[in-house]
Amino acid sequence: MNFVEAKLELQQLLNKVNLCEVGKLLDWMKNSDELDHLLLDNNKVILQNIADDLRARLPLDAMFPSEAAAHLKMQQCARPTVHVDSFLYGDEQVDSLCEEGAMSRNYCLSCGSFRTAPLEFISHSFSATELQFVFQNLLPDLRDRTVVDVGSRLGAVLYGGYVYSSASRLFGLEVNEDFVRLQNDIVHKYKLCDRVQVVHADVCTQEVLLQSTDVLIMNNVFEYFLESSKQVSAWRFIMQTFRKTGSLLVTVPSLQESLNALQVALEPGWVEELPVDYNVYLGRDTDPEALRQIHLYRVL
Ligand SMILES: C[S@@+](CC[C@H](N)C(=O)[O-])C[C@H]1O[C@@H](n2cnc3c(N)ncnc32)[C@H](O)[C@@H]1O
Repeated sequence: MNFVEAKLELQQLLNKVNLCEVGKLLDWMKNSDELDHLLLDNNKVILQNIADDLRARLPLDAMFPSEAAAHLKMQQCARPTVHVDSFLYGDEQVDSLCEEGAMSRNYCLSCGSFRTAPLEFISHSFSATELQFVFQNLLPDLRDRTVVDVGSRLGAVLYGGYVYSSASRLFGLEVNEDFVRLQNDIVHKYKLCDRVQVVHADVCTQEVLLQSTDVLIMNNVFEYFLESSKQVSAWRFIMQTFRKTGSLLVTVPSLQESLNALQVALEPGWVEELPVDYNVYLGRDTDPEALRQIHLYRVL
């Protein structure tokens, strides 16, 4: 049964329900977790298993000591900021880690007092729900298409693209060798090598690959990892190189937000923004605010 047929059948059912009970039923459908098992498929289980493996190999903040620049940038944020990787930790896991005292959502404003303020949480990875949204709702059918994730880190986009899309090739570009090793271990363990390849390289050296890429994914790649002048050169390189007409660009945050922060002008006539329908429920972990940060562009 497709969406239109199901909607019709549901409307017919709701017409039969006592008027005074309709609100209760709709509230149950919207807020109860009793229907969530309908959304759990094998792909989600594979991603959960990969996340379990990665958690076992990483410290709680999922950052390596080799990321000195990123650690420093986070310390310089206006509000106290911690990295909680959303591919590895869902809301429920964060809650139980907070209960155990291993993690905290708040910091103390004056030591010893009850005056606390919320910590700023950032994630350097997409969550499994965001990946499902990107590959099942945002992007078209990717059969015979090549996807490149700029700054692939844990490899979340590569694993999400493998299970949720038919993309023929999924390339991850990553400058940090520790993360390249980690991704390669997962790719081999889960036998993803037929479609996934991790490249240890700076995106700015990948002219040939970017010229033939159909979908480029950029999840806040540079902000925490490169100094401003290097971010400017990297964006200029991408605007000049990723130019195949009709190819798609997925960014977090919007191009405007990233480029304005660096006072870089968007290359005229490079891309157009495409409308996105964010009204989709993908399970309890769906964060509508996070989905709205995901933008889609087409190269002109
Ligand atoms: C925010 S993470 C992106 C994570 C991943 N794409 C995802 O969505 O789950 C950014 C990653 O980009 C890498 N990176 C930063 N600058 C890069 C560059 N010029 N070339 C390749 N990787 C880069 C960083 O090392 C970091 O691991």
